[in-house]
Amino acid sequence: MIGLNIEKTFDFVSKASVLAYDAQTQIAREALEEGTGKGSDFLGWLHLPSSITKEFITQLQGTAQVLRDHCDVVVVAGIGGSYLGARAVIEALSNSFNWLLPHNEAPVIVYAGHNISEDYLYELTDYLKGKTFGLINISKSGTTTETALAFRLLKQQCEEQCGKEMAKKLIVAITDAHKGAARITADKEGYQTYIIPDNVGGRYSVLTPVGLLPIAVAGFDIEQLIAGAADMEQTCGTHVPFAANPAAQYAAVRNELYKRGKKIELLVNFCPKLHYVSEWWKQLYGESEGKDHKGIFPASVDFSTDLHSMGQWIQEGERSIFETVISIDKVAHRLEVPADEANLDGLNYLAGKRIDEVNKMAELGTQLAHVDGGVPNIRINMERLDEYNLGQLLYFFEVACGISGYLLGVNPFNQPGVEAYKKNMFALLNKPGYEAESKAIREKL
Ligand code: PA5
Repeated sequence: MIGLNIEKTFDFVSKASVLAYDAQTQIAREALEEGTGKGSDFLGWLHLPSSITKEFITQLQGTAQVLRDHCDVVVVAGIGGSYLGARAVIEALSNSFNWLLPHNEAPVIVYAGHNISEDYLYELTDYLKGKTFGLINISKSGTTTETALAFRLLKQQCEEQCGKEMAKKLIVAITDAHKGAARITADKEGYQTYIIPDNVGGRYSVLTPVGLLPIAVAGFDIEQLIAGAADMEQTCGTHVPFAANPAAQYAAVRNELYKRGKKIELLVNFCPKLHYVSEWWKQLYGESEGKDHKGIFPASVDFSTDLHSMGQWIQEGERSIFETVISIDKVAHRLEVPADEANLDGLNYLAGKRIDEVNKMAELGTQLAHVDGGVPNIRINMERLDEYNLGQLLYFFEVACGISGYLLGVNPFNQPGVEAYKKNMFALLNKPGYEAESKAIREKL
C-alpha cells in the first residue's frame, strides 16, 4: 500500500486551509467522473485499471513472449508519454546492474525515439549490429519526428539483419486505430498493432499497451501493476471523503502551497531506481499544469546523491520550493555494514546496522533539516518497490493531477505549448507545407 503524510507542511500552510479544499476537490473529482470539466475528451485513463480484461492482459503477455523468445534486445521507440511510463516501471523494478548481467531469459530493453542525437542513434545502431532485436514503435499521433526518425533507421536495420519476414514478427506498433504514418506503415507491412485509445493522452497512457507491453517484455507482472492501480482507483474514488482520499489531499496541499509562493515542487527519492518515476511524474505534472502562465514547476532530485550537489540550494536558497518524498518502507535485499578491526574510516559505530537503516536516517535527517530550513515536506510511503505498489503510485499521481489541474483552473489534458518548437523546427528544415513559416523564420535569424 502507499500512504500520504502532509503533516510537515502545516508549519507553512494551516491545516484548516488545506481542509477547506474538501468541497473544491470533491467538485473536481466529480467533474473527472462525470466528464464535465475541461478536456473531458481525454478521460479514458480514469477507469482503465478496473476495466482491463484478463483476456487483454493474456494477449499482451503473448506478444511479449514472442519478443522475449526471439530477441537479445528490444528497442522501445517513443517520446514523452509514449515512453516514460514504461521506462519508469522497468527501471524501478530492474536490477541496477541489469545491463551487465547475462540476459538468458529477458531481452535487454533499450530506448530510442526520445532524442535527435546523431551520436546516440549511431551508437545504438552500432550496438544492435549482429544482434536479433525487436522494435516496439510507440506513437499516438504516428507522426512525431523523434520517434519516426529512429523507427526509420531501426526498421531498415532490423529487416537487413533478420530478413523482412522475421522483422514482421519482431516489430510491434502501438498507435492510433486509424490515422498517422505509424498506422499506415504497420498496416502495409502487416505488423502486429495495439491501439492507444483516442480518449487517453500520452502522459496518462502507462496502463495502456504503451506501458504494459514493454513492461511485460522486460519480464514484469503487468497483472499486479494493474491490480495496484485498480485498488488505488477505489481509494481515490468520488465516494471517498477528503480525509481518506490521498489524491484529493495531495492536490489540495500542493495548490495551497503554490498559492503561498511555493512555486517549485521537488520530487525526491532515496532510491536511484526511482529516477525515471520522477521523469514520468515531471511530464505528467509539467504538461498538465504548466499553461495559461500558471503551474507549479515540477523538478526532481535523487538523494542522497543530489544532497551533495543541490542540497545547499534546497537548504538555503530562495524559499520557493516544497518537497514530495517517495519513501520505500522495505527494501528487497539485506546488507549489513561490516566491522573492521582497524576502523580507519571511523565507521565501526555503524557495524552490524543495515545499509537501509543508514539511508533511512539520512532521509529523516534531511526531512527535519529541510523543514527547519523553510521547505515544506510531503511524504509518500510505498510499502515496497514492486509492481503492485508502483501501480498504486502511478494511478494515485494521475488522478491527483486531474484534480489538481482543475483546482488550478487549467485544462490538465491538453498540451498546446509543445507545438511551438515543432513549428519552428519544421520551418527551419523546409518541411513541405511550411513555406510561409520558413520564409518568416529566416527573416528572424
Ligand atoms: O503526453 C503527451 O501527449 C506527449 O508527451 C506525447 O506522448 C509525446 O509528444 C509523443 O507523442 P506521440 O505519441 O504522438 O508520438
